[in-house]
Amino acid sequence: MEHPVYFDNAATTQMSQEVIEAMEPYLRENFGNASTAYQAGEVCKKVLEETRETIAWSLDAKPAEIFFTSGGSESDNWAIKGIAGAYKEKGKHIITDKIEHHAVLNSCSYLEKLGYEVTYLDVDETGFLNPEQVKNAIRPDTTLISVMFANNEIGTIEPITQIGRIAREAGVLFHTDAVQAYAQLPISVQQYPVDLLSASAHKFHGPKGVGFLYIREGVTIPSFIHGGAQEKGKRAGTENIPGIVGMGAAVKSAMSNMRMKIRRETMLRNYMTEKIMHEIHDVRLNGHYNRRLPGNASFSFAGIEGASLLVLLDEDGICASGGSACNTGESRISYVIEAIGVSKEYAPGTIRLTLSKDSTRKEVDYVVASLKRNIARLRDEV
Ligand SMILES: Cc1ncc(COP(=O)(O)O)c(C=O)c1O
Repeated sequence: MEHPVYFDNAATTQMSQEVIEAMEPYLRENFGNASTAYQAGEVCKKVLEETRETIAWSLDAKPAEIFFTSGGSESDNWAIKGIAGAYKEKGKHIITDKIEHHAVLNSCSYLEKLGYEVTYLDVDETGFLNPEQVKNAIRPDTTLISVMFANNEIGTIEPITQIGRIAREAGVLFHTDAVQAYAQLPISVQQYPVDLLSASAHKFHGPKGVGFLYIREGVTIPSFIHGGAQEKGKRAGTENIPGIVGMGAAVKSAMSNMRMKIRRETMLRNYMTEKIMHEIHDVRLNGHYNRRLPGNASFSFAGIEGASLLVLLDEDGICASGGSACNTGESRISYVIEAIGVSKEYAPGTIRLTLSKDSTRKEVDYVVASLKRNIARLRDEV
């Protein structure tokens, strides 16, 4: 078995060979600044606009609706704070849910300090947000609904179409954090009624520190970074050309074999899930069984600490992550695991295993064998 066995693809992914090759000329000879008028700049400007077209094509959007950013966190911050600021005359109420990424939750809590009101909706035991709850939470002063496309910890895919329709009928803007879903699932902004969508390249075999925000034509949003005239004056700063080129290559690759990849990853994840549920006792699968990201599996094992299990997995050369955030040495239960109501007996023993297009059955067998052995050890069964 080649090590490490990397089963933490929701945290980040390995850049693929074609991404590195696409970026290389822009790290070497094509180092120009896209804002300059001479040829070395023109080359960069051209590839910048070509990548914008590629991304727009992947979403059925228009190139003018794609704005490059430094990644998911910036896109979420921009969407939420930007819309809140632009529409504050209409109202200062935002709707989101309790299992969003911190980039959304902390943007909302920042706004609360400025006098905005935020409704954090509950999700059910699979992490699913009921669209009816969203409908009931809308008030005359609601300006934005922000609900993630799919959850990063438990993989549950949210009812984006229904929520988008509800938002549209009520005249409220709808943002979705699609960082875990974009380039993993087919997403068309013609089909999904979203007004803003965040994505990040390092989640789909692209480079870190680059992403984009889709902003539907007609949506008013102020600049998030003030300075030069880049990105139509909306997002200042010399463009990260190598990163943007790498993201474009990763998008092309993801789009070219998406259906096959989804089928393959889903089968492998189901194989892993069934094997774990069958071979290890007192375990629960977190999230929805079917309506989840192809590569995501999250488990809670009764009677153990997830953090201790991760250490033992690491000793076996396995990269996975926990469902609990470690804070000043104390192991806390993740807010997502809390929100879906996992019992006290199971919640501390939560781990997340996330596959990629490169994961294999052999790796799954190795990981399950390691889990079985190490969990028995932690439970003092051997
Ligand atoms: C759902 C979700 N939103 C936002 C982010 C932040 O993205 P980035 O790392 O590109 O800032 C992540 C990354 O973990 C994520 O999973």
